[in-house]
Amino acid sequence: MDNLAVGMVGYGFIGRVHTISYLNLPFFYKPLPLKLKMSGVCSYPLSDANAAMDQAGFEYATDDYMDLIKDPDIDIIEVCTPNHIHKDIIINAIQAGKHVNIEKPLAMDINEAKEILEAANNAPKSVVQMCFEYRYSPAIMRAKQLIEEGLLGRVYSVRTVYLHAGNSDPKRPSYWKIQKKYCGGGSLYDLASHVIDLVRFLLGDFKRVFSRLETFIKERPDAADSRKTCVVDVDDLALLLFELENGAIGTLEATKVATGANDEVRIEIHGEKGAVGFNSMQPNFLQVYDTRDPEAPIGGMRGFKAIETVQRYPEPAAAFPGPKFSIGWLRYHAGNAYDFIENILYGKKPQADIMSGYRVQEVIEAAGISALKEKWVDLPL
Ligand SMILES: NC(=O)c1ccc[n+]([C@@H]2O[C@H](COP(=O)([O-])OP(=O)(O)OC[C@H]3O[C@@H](n4cnc5c(N)ncnc54)[C@H](O)[C@@H]3O)[C@@H](O)[C@H]2O)c1
Repeated sequence: MDNLAVGMVGYGFIGRVHTISYLNLPFFYKPLPLKLKMSGVCSYPLSDANAAMDQAGFEYATDDYMDLIKDPDIDIIEVCTPNHIHKDIIINAIQAGKHVNIEKPLAMDINEAKEILEAANNAPKSVVQMCFEYRYSPAIMRAKQLIEEGLLGRVYSVRTVYLHAGNSDPKRPSYWKIQKKYCGGGSLYDLASHVIDLVRFLLGDFKRVFSRLETFIKERPDAADSRKTCVVDVDDLALLLFELENGAIGTLEATKVATGANDEVRIEIHGEKGAVGFNSMQPNFLQVYDTRDPEAPIGGMRGFKAIETVQRYPEPAAAFPGPKFSIGWLRYHAGNAYDFIENILYGKKPQADIMSGYRVQEVIEAAGISALKEKWVDLPL
């Protein structure tokens, strides 16, 4: 059995999620074709990284990510830091011959994304993969199969949202996701990136985009000193109108001031012959409508059906805890982690490859330009 050693760069919210995924892979995928070792972890301050050793069994801790990248025993670098340092971590890791699993969004802007793409293209032996975890929701996987089998026929329209309420309270203190120099952009970068990827995954590339970005809360208490305020220079709300290469027209609303929302991704696609709908708050079912179902007598069997995708992952996912137990968001991340290590082991090209990250970045960039110039922007840029 092969071994792979993991170096976790960033151990905040998503670094923990990626760690939970690796630790749980032997339960979800049986037999796991290799052994994983949680080698080094990097976080700020060092005390956080030290705590990660206790919590997850990492062998050592550091506050300098280059320690992990230079470690010849580490095979995998996980990029789980704020966006402004993605590029440096990714390029250094690729050049050191590591495999790299990258949190979205890929980069701060399209120029950085180009540099990363180039570095990845020059290192064909490294598996460089994006973490777009919604691709590993069984409901989304089933939607993709049905669309490829022609359920929808010609696709007319797609309606998408990503709703959070985390920034609704103006008293929430500043953090890196409201400062452009650390995040690149607001809901457009943080939330819309997921949805743009899902639309591409299910329906193909974007052709053009029109966007309106709005910042409702223009300053927040400074987290470092509550007597001061911090300027919010990114969007709270991103509204996009878009057209796809396949002719479909769509809308995307991504916002962190959707008071009352939890973590709600919705994608609803209408075609000539059918429709599909996914809502991350009801993740066990894919909504499917098929015009080929008889509509008589009295409605026949016609109507939206809730397909019970639950935890029905295809082989080799182990039936643990069982295909009928309700699914959750963490499980999608395990799907991404498994896909990543399988790609490394068998030398496969990732489906969520670096080009997927680049294409999403391109749509984000186009939306930014559109909001500024108040006009449609054509893709690719
Ligand atoms: N896929 C998803 O669903 C999802 C969800 C949340 C966040 N994310 C992405 O994950 C990334 C991290 O977001 P988060 O919410 O975990 O942030 P976070 O603030 O919770 O954690 C960031 C971590 O990075 C560390 N860090 C900061 N600067 C560093 C540096 N110079 N060197 C090394 N480590 C450093 C911090 O100490 C912390 O451990 C972002 O790119 C974000 O967009 C993805």
